[in-house]
Amino acid sequence: MARTSGRRKVTVIGAGMVGGVVTQMLAMRDYADVVLVDVVEGMPQGKALDMMQMGTLLGFDSAVTGSNGYDETQGSDVIVITSGIARKPGMSRDDLLRTNMGIVESVTKQVVPGSPDAIVVVVSNPLDAMCHVAFDAAGFTRERVIGMAGVLDSARFRAFIAMELDVSVEDVTAMVLGGHGDTMVPLSRYSTVNGIPIPELMPAERVTAIEQRTAGGGAEIVGLLKTGSAYYAPGMSVVEMVDSLILDKKRVVPCSVLLQGEYGIDGLYVGVPVKLGANGVGQIIELNLTGNESAALKRSSGAVKELVDAMAALKSAAA
Ligand SMILES: NC(=O)c1ccc[n+]([C@@H]2O[C@H](COP(=O)([O-])OP(=O)(O)OC[C@H]3O[C@@H](n4cnc5c(N)ncnc54)[C@H](O)[C@@H]3O)[C@@H](O)[C@H]2O)c1
Repeated sequence: MARTSGRRKVTVIGAGMVGGVVTQMLAMRDYADVVLVDVVEGMPQGKALDMMQMGTLLGFDSAVTGSNGYDETQGSDVIVITSGIARKPGMSRDDLLRTNMGIVESVTKQVVPGSPDAIVVVVSNPLDAMCHVAFDAAGFTRERVIGMAGVLDSARFRAFIAMELDVSVEDVTAMVLGGHGDTMVPLSRYSTVNGIPIPELMPAERVTAIEQRTAGGGAEIVGLLKTGSAYYAPGMSVVEMVDSLILDKKRVVPCSVLLQGEYGIDGLYVGVPVKLGANGVGQIIELNLTGNESAALKRSSGAVKELVDAMAALKSAAA
């Protein structure tokens, strides 16, 4: 008898390193079935079967299905987009942008008709730019197209704070705003050890050093791995967002959202704290920023605007 399921459904597009971790960790949560989609023949099916067999050892009943098409994705509650290519040596920013724009647009247009009520979580890089592509291609409201970056950047910040102070990660909270790149804005004033702001716990130069390490957190791992980029913490960051969406937890976490006047920014995807629940972004929280923090956020949103303008130029050159 075939297994049947009345569970929630999450589709993960791109069965590479990040997509694999997202699928594995979600399956282990045991509250949703997961459909893993990739263009490489056999690969998502193979990973899915492997995970189903792992389920017997870990005791989860989530069904994991691999596919090279979209039929199985119909009726998804959440769609996670991790498909794309990484920047290769010698590849220009515009080449990467052109390729990943094409991939994210194409997968969004293929997946959305079968899941018109889904919430889309974008992971592919350059993150904030790819959020614009998915938003335009999906035709959903801004509440239902959200980028994953701030959860990861804050997790990195938290890890560095815990290492520096030799305290449990459980007591560390952190907040990172801005675009997902080296212009991101780690907010030390809003980062604490059990409520104690970190500037009260370490000298200013250590705070600055940790902020800088956070902003370079992705590049540090690329430099060590040499081929490919981080995937464990990115994958788990996606799962934290999916948990909050599907379980309606209303977590308050930084995500890339389309700002429409908030923080004085209009029409750009930028990372800010939001409340995530069953309807997607439930609320955008506007923090009081100092002049310097505000200027850093403006600079960071300027970097997102440059990418959006570059994408528009690439589109009109191709037309
Ligand atoms: N937002 C973040 O914080 C964050 C963190 C880590 C990685 N990323 C990004 O996530 C993306 C995935 O990273 P990864 O390490 O898993 O890369 P990866 O190369 O391991 O996986 C990407 C997968 O996408 C697939 N793919 C390509 N075109 C496709 C298409 N048209 N349809 C379906 N699948 C397609 C590829 O076959 C590959 O399996 C990259 O763009 C990476 O830069 C973002």
